[in-house]
Amino acid sequence: MDNAKLVLNGKEYQLPVTVGTEGEVGIDITALRSKTGAITLDSGYGNTGSCESSITFIDGERGILQYRGYPIEELAAKSSFLEVSFLLIFGHLPTREELDKFTFDLTHHSLLREDMKKFYEGYPPTAHPMGVLCSMVVSLSAYYPDTQEERYNNIIRLLAKLKTIAAFSYKKSIGQPYVYPRNNMSFAADLLHMMFAVPAEDYEVHQEVADALDLLLILHADHEQNCSTSTVRMVGSSEANMFATIASGICALWGKLHGGANQHVIEMLQRIQNEGGDYRKFIDMAKDKNSSFKLMGFGHRVYKNFDPRAKILKEAADKVLNKLGIKDPLLEIAKNLERVALEDSYFIERKLYPNVDFYSGIIYRAMGIPTEMFTVMFALGRLPGWIAQWKEMREDPAMRIYRPRQIYTGCTERSYIPIDERRTVEVK
Ligand code: SDX
Repeated sequence: MDNAKLVLNGKEYQLPVTVGTEGEVGIDITALRSKTGAITLDSGYGNTGSCESSITFIDGERGILQYRGYPIEELAAKSSFLEVSFLLIFGHLPTREELDKFTFDLTHHSLLREDMKKFYEGYPPTAHPMGVLCSMVVSLSAYYPDTQEERYNNIIRLLAKLKTIAAFSYKKSIGQPYVYPRNNMSFAADLLHMMFAVPAEDYEVHQEVADALDLLLILHADHEQNCSTSTVRMVGSSEANMFATIASGICALWGKLHGGANQHVIEMLQRIQNEGGDYRKFIDMAKDKNSSFKLMGFGHRVYKNFDPRAKILKEAADKVLNKLGIKDPLLEIAKNLERVALEDSYFIERKLYPNVDFYSGIIYRAMGIPTEMFTVMFALGRLPGWIAQWKEMREDPAMRIYRPRQIYTGCTERSYIPIDERRTVEVK
């Protein structure tokens, strides 16, 4: 493809063009400032590629999502979270031997160091588990050196221990004793067992619940350069250790516009139910520019068609609730919201569709997972994606520290004012 041409102040510049394996076109502006003295501006990075990556492909217009080229629909139907984690991190579907070893390694690294339990004692029971999660993850760096030789082991340690950290944070919040990992359980079953078993009686994990959780983890496993993954790449580019880097992704995911949305979707549906179920009133509020209300779980920076994950989760929600014999009025409210919104010109014009967060909370609720743990579930699913993206970046010999530029719009040079000559200015 020909170079791009830029004309600035009457001068023409040639900019090289990169074309990806799916035909995406990127104008390479690496040398823009040195050639032209100018930079680009792109609030929210909606048009800016931060990297080239071979991990996940999304086509937002056609509602396509692929991990290493495999369609999410196929992986959701045929794969497992551990197999998808291996695929994302190491780049190929594992052989049976590779998967057995990966599973063995994860199973035998799921214990936390006993003295790490003391960290939980300082938190009030009301501490949000996302805050506990990120501080416990960064604290792993106190026990495990971040060396090249330890990289595989540390990847295993983090994938294996995050579910234990998550389950312990839940037990701490409800004042129950910690339940330790069980080596004879699958990843999802072990997480549910650590969260819901109590010493006084045996707890049986229903296979359909474990299968539904495994599906949710697959669907959340990666999503190219979203807010939290870009944060992981930003922090990782300074060569901070892997644990600190992933902890930064957990913090970014916590925000209600990103991974925190699944918690806010349920709170929104509960509010609609508590206020009489008039979902049309909330559609009108979402359209009202004078209202700060947004339809949580709707809209996406990239998808301008259905989020393929939302389609899969909508079907899974029906299946799981039917299997468990649960009738959740919030699911009916969600379906009515979706139906009305998708017929409304405001949403149609802005191409606002349900995203991954719209139905996931309904399934978590059916599993008995409390709302405050929803974003923790998202983080557990996204962990292999964060690790894969971080590993791809650190293994790139051309990696540079992320350091965007800015256009300065503040005061031009002025002289210092002695304190007694200053006037009060209202601080906002
Ligand atoms: C995730 O990036 C990823 O890949 C993220 C994710 C992943 O897997 O990592 O997919 C996970 O974070 C999903 C998104 C979860 N967040 C929510 O559900 C929160 C509600 N959604 C919005 O806040 C919003 O849609 C975003 C944040 C998701 C996207 O925001 P953008 O791309 O910056 O779009 P925008 O806010 O500029 O919206 C464009 C227009 C605006 O109206 P106008 O100014 O053009 O009149 O659409 C409107 C917005 O007001 N709009 C909404 C809306 N989302 C956008 N109006 C009402 N309700 C909404 N939900």
